[in-house]
Amino acid sequence: MRISVIGCGYLGAVHATCMARLGHEVVGIDVDEQKIEGLRNGRPPFYEPELEQLLNDGAVTDNLTFTTDMALASGSDVHFVCVGTPQKQGENAADITHVDAAVAALLPFLAAGDLVVGKSTVPVGTAGRLCALIALQQPEAHVVWNPEFLREGHAVADTIHPDRFVYGVKDGSEDHPAVAILDEVYAAPLASGTPRLVTDHATAELVKSAANSFLATKISFINAMAEVCEAVGADVTQLADAIGMDDRIGRKFLNAGIGFGGGCLPKDIRAFMARAGELGADQALTFLREVDAINMRRRTRVVELARDLCNGSLLGKRVTVLGAAFKPESDDVRDSPALSIAAQLQLQGAVVTVTDPKALANAARRFPELHYEPDTSAAVERADALLLLTEWQEYRELDPYALVESVSSPRVLDGRNVLDAAKWRAAGWAYRGLGRP
Ligand code: UGA
Repeated sequence: MRISVIGCGYLGAVHATCMARLGHEVVGIDVDEQKIEGLRNGRPPFYEPELEQLLNDGAVTDNLTFTTDMALASGSDVHFVCVGTPQKQGENAADITHVDAAVAALLPFLAAGDLVVGKSTVPVGTAGRLCALIALQQPEAHVVWNPEFLREGHAVADTIHPDRFVYGVKDGSEDHPAVAILDEVYAAPLASGTPRLVTDHATAELVKSAANSFLATKISFINAMAEVCEAVGADVTQLADAIGMDDRIGRKFLNAGIGFGGGCLPKDIRAFMARAGELGADQALTFLREVDAINMRRRTRVVELARDLCNGSLLGKRVTVLGAAFKPESDDVRDSPALSIAAQLQLQGAVVTVTDPKALANAARRFPELHYEPDTSAAVERADALLLLTEWQEYRELDPYALVESVSSPRVLDGRNVLDAAKWRAAGWAYRGLGRP
């Protein structure tokens, strides 16, 4: 099929590449010349495992072009809208100006029977509004909301083999003509058994907000348990293992630590609360305010623990922060808890060195005042305390016996509860985890 993908950021660049991989003829469109130039040359504008290789794979390059010219969307049967919906400055609500602009720019090129497929995370009601707008120009085009559930760091696999597809169509009916067209787009994953649900527009939009809210709630739940564990000297990692064995609860997303960050969960729960408020359903989501508050409290807690670990004062202490990205296998530092903790430590007088395998360039743009060191051995040299804040494999595998020789004082704060506490203590380290004795 001929497909256009509008917006070549995280979501769009991955989606365009994966659709080409599925054998479709794809044009990726973005207003950012630099991004398009990079993609044309096989360079994604961010780090995502497998993506660069796929982008340069002959089977993909034959099917994939990138452009800043929206006119090239003309002739595609399906137009995926993949632009960003960041948090509005100074407000909880999502900024959907990019979605509106993308659709407005696409309108003149829509033909009868075309599908406009929204993948961006939007406030419920957006699809309905766009549907009415598009109908004025091209009454025979269809609007589908087809939320994306990919995780950064696993984006290619999540796009080609997703857990499920959700198609939100105007009448919520299996017989809607858009369903068969989208089935053709996703023929390969559907054939391998991926379930798909057809809903109305609003339900599809809500599925995405609800899924991310649930994930955020799960993380904040276990972090709240970590607070209680800390108060009583219990171990939240054992607690998570034990409750996670109940398959109604499940162990995934029950890792207590410094909390969630990134470009999705924090802004999505806030946008969801804001939208519920507009709809007069704000009471239904007031619990998300608590989810957000628990999450932000983790960052303050880690700074307090770091101070404790440094005998009550951070002033002049050399603190090495391992990890800047909001999660491993990503160079994304948007709302990264690791980086926000590093900045707090610096404000409180610590001499902070941040290291990360991939995210230092982005981190330096966000917090130019911090000191960055790409080499782990150099970063830990003469440190008074190490803080493991993003659980890259390389940090999980650090050898406490070898490392004890390099640091000034063997103190470690395990912000993700991934180190073997007994082993580190045996090697002479003062070890602190989160929610652990
Ligand atoms: C999240 C969702 O998981 C995806 O399904 C969704 O498609 C995506 O947002 C989106 O809306 O685009 P992502 O932001 O890539 O994906 O990252 P997650 O894997 O969800 O992690 C989010 C944060 O939670 C990270 O900072 C991670 O370190 C933290 N986390 C995760 C925990 O603190 N504990 C856990 O047990 C799991």
